[in-house]
Amino acid sequence: MRIGNDGLPVIPVKVHSYRKTLLLRYYINPLTLILSKRFTRTCYIDGFSGPGRVLFKGTLFELDGSPLIALKAKPGFTDYVFCEKDRRFRNALELRADAYTVNRNVTVWPAQDFNQVAPSIIKRIPTGWHVFAFLDPFGLELNWTTVETVSSVPHRELIINISAGLFRCASSSHTQDTVDRVMGMHDDWSLYDSKELLALYKTNVGALGFEHVRDYPVRGNRGPIYYLILATNSPTAVKIVGQRMSEVNLTGVTHLQLMVEREAGRLSTLDDFIETPQTKLDAFTAQSESELRPPHLHQ
Ligand SMILES: C[S@@+](CC[C@H](N)C(=O)[O-])C[C@H]1O[C@@H](n2cnc3c(N)ncnc32)[C@H](O)[C@@H]1O
Repeated sequence: MRIGNDGLPVIPVKVHSYRKTLLLRYYINPLTLILSKRFTRTCYIDGFSGPGRVLFKGTLFELDGSPLIALKAKPGFTDYVFCEKDRRFRNALELRADAYTVNRNVTVWPAQDFNQVAPSIIKRIPTGWHVFAFLDPFGLELNWTTVETVSSVPHRELIINISAGLFRCASSSHTQDTVDRVMGMHDDWSLYDSKELLALYKTNVGALGFEHVRDYPVRGNRGPIYYLILATNSPTAVKIVGQRMSEVNLTGVTHLQLMVEREAGRLSTLDDFIETPQTKLDAFTAQSESELRPPHLHQ
């Protein structure tokens, strides 16, 4: 197990995952700013949280993972729920999150399978809260039933990581059960190509009550390694995430590696690309104004 600068475990990730970092850091600021005007309680759920720090393979550099990015966001959420199956990662996250627990509720569940605990987590969330769930497994660990469970709260937005491994499993007769579990249905998956499978997944997510379901491929050296699926009812979310993903996708892997190294060396010149500039925050807030109106005014 790799150990970080603070003496706690870190999770090794490929450098293309820095795109995920860039997306989350950029998006969670306007998201929480907009949500804080409409909801008194906003809950971030990270179902596959990792230990809170990631080490980029091929570099010596570590940065915050999704839980710490969410905890450091401004204004941030009022409530945070983390789940991680690996006990050492889970314990490391609890220690790292401790510094960010003032004026908010932070729960790190005992190490376990998020698919099993998701119904208990969701049952505890009152209907007036807004949930943003980041579901980021390494492979095909996210069951369809869990996506259904998380989507069952009235106000929610999801970002789901769908591994391109799904398409490889679909084409093999030995892994049809895995695809059944991820897709939530049984079929002869060898009859589907990757586009059809992704389209079916998105259609089924949309059927859970999302107006917009978008996929953003995250590419490695040889094509997409995974797809980030955004499921939301907010056109502003689609706009912000779409813009950001087109920016980060233009950045090649070698460039990303350089950015990680430069950031870890704390060069300030990249700040505008790495974080959300104030001018953009103001623009996003203005764009979302129509979404902030109470529902009866939309008629
Ligand atoms: C891709 S990593 C998450 C990285 C994290 N989002 C970040 O940005 O730092 C996936 C994590 O999910 C954990 N995991 C795998 N299966 C799980 C399950 N069924 N329930 C909860 N956690 C699981 C793994 O141990 C790993 O730490």
